[in-house]
Amino acid sequence: MFVMSLRGTPDWVSYLVRAGLHAPSADNSQPWQFVWDGRTLELFMHDERGKRGLGADHPANLMALGAVIENLSQAARALGMPAETLQMGDASGSGCMARAVWEHPQSPPGALPAGVQQRHTNRGPFETTALDRRLLAELAVMRQGPLRVAVVSEAQARERWSGLVREASELRFQNEEIHRWLGDSLRFTPEEVARGDGLDVASLLLPPGGESLLRLSLDWRRMVLLNRFGGCKLFALLEAAMLKKCAALVTVIGPASGTGVEVAAGRLLQRVWIALNEMGIAVHPYFVLPDQLHRLRTGRVAPEFVHKVRRIEAAVGELLGSRDETVFMLLRVGVPRVAAPVRSRRLPLERSFSVLVSP
Ligand SMILES: Cc1cc2nc3c(=O)[nH]c(=O)nc-3n(C[C@H](O)[C@H](O)[C@H](O)COP(=O)(O)O)c2cc1C
Repeated sequence: MFVMSLRGTPDWVSYLVRAGLHAPSADNSQPWQFVWDGRTLELFMHDERGKRGLGADHPANLMALGAVIENLSQAARALGMPAETLQMGDASGSGCMARAVWEHPQSPPGALPAGVQQRHTNRGPFETTALDRRLLAELAVMRQGPLRVAVVSEAQARERWSGLVREASELRFQNEEIHRWLGDSLRFTPEEVARGDGLDVASLLLPPGGESLLRLSLDWRRMVLLNRFGGCKLFALLEAAMLKKCAALVTVIGPASGTGVEVAAGRLLQRVWIALNEMGIAVHPYFVLPDQLHRLRTGRVAPEFVHKVRRIEAAVGELLGSRDETVFMLLRVGVPRVAAPVRSRRLPLERSFSVLVSP
């Protein structure tokens, strides 16, 4: 039997859950579920929002879960939980991705770690002023297992990455599945926003006329028509143009395959994101390129576009200097011109947390 409330759960459990819920997720889909059974707190991928959403193996879902795990780990440290109380990974094969048991909790928890609480997406324009050297040095040594971070500041390399994002984005706007997924995620009215999931269009910081254009393009048949007149090219151009309005691009890179690489990428992404935001540097993720590469690896690119994505893949390999590595995430970063953008909300707690009560 399930009960859904934090009331009656120990303080440390509600502290960890609240920290976890601050994690980012693709289109704010929140593909996570916490279960507390009176002794153990466990983290799973949500059946509906995760497994039946993008899918249990989709890198975006696994990275979101990785980001939750990073938040749990930072929160556990802030609480002074001994290392062995928080275990990561699905050792039992039950699908549980992290597990916390704390028999003898210490002091009552204070506020959540500021970095966890304040991290957010900013889709506005950024200053082009170069990043601070200390921050660059900090990013350069960040690792999570085989995953690493690379900062792209040099103009020519940035130009090449932007070109690849534009090409990937052009394909995205010709894909009905992705288009419908985005359409279902958008929240236009206050009632829709109040649901607490998806993308509040106000958080997209669209230019004047952008919202009307977005609404117009949501109907797939209309998008197909727009594409005949170069709609996908125009949208992709606008998306990639934002990559010029920043100080640098930050990439999360690692082996193209391997157990747990996506979760590790999510942990690293979250650590990088928190570190940047803590230094006043805004972050805007671009998943469109990694998404097309993943589609290619899993045979989900339409036959007529396969050669284009192969070309993108080869160009990414050249930029990374290795065909064995891939890019898990690309971030546009810089000092923001809009310092406090509209923040995405979260679903009501009962949609992501349940208490298992023995019958
Ligand atoms: C795996 C992943 C992919 C994402 N891809 C994009 C993206 O392509 N474009 C974008 O604007 N935001 C992207 N985001 C940011 C999410 O939309 C954002 O995290 C979510 O709406 C919650 O907002 P918050 O980060 O402000 O908490 C991505 C986030 C994750 C974790």
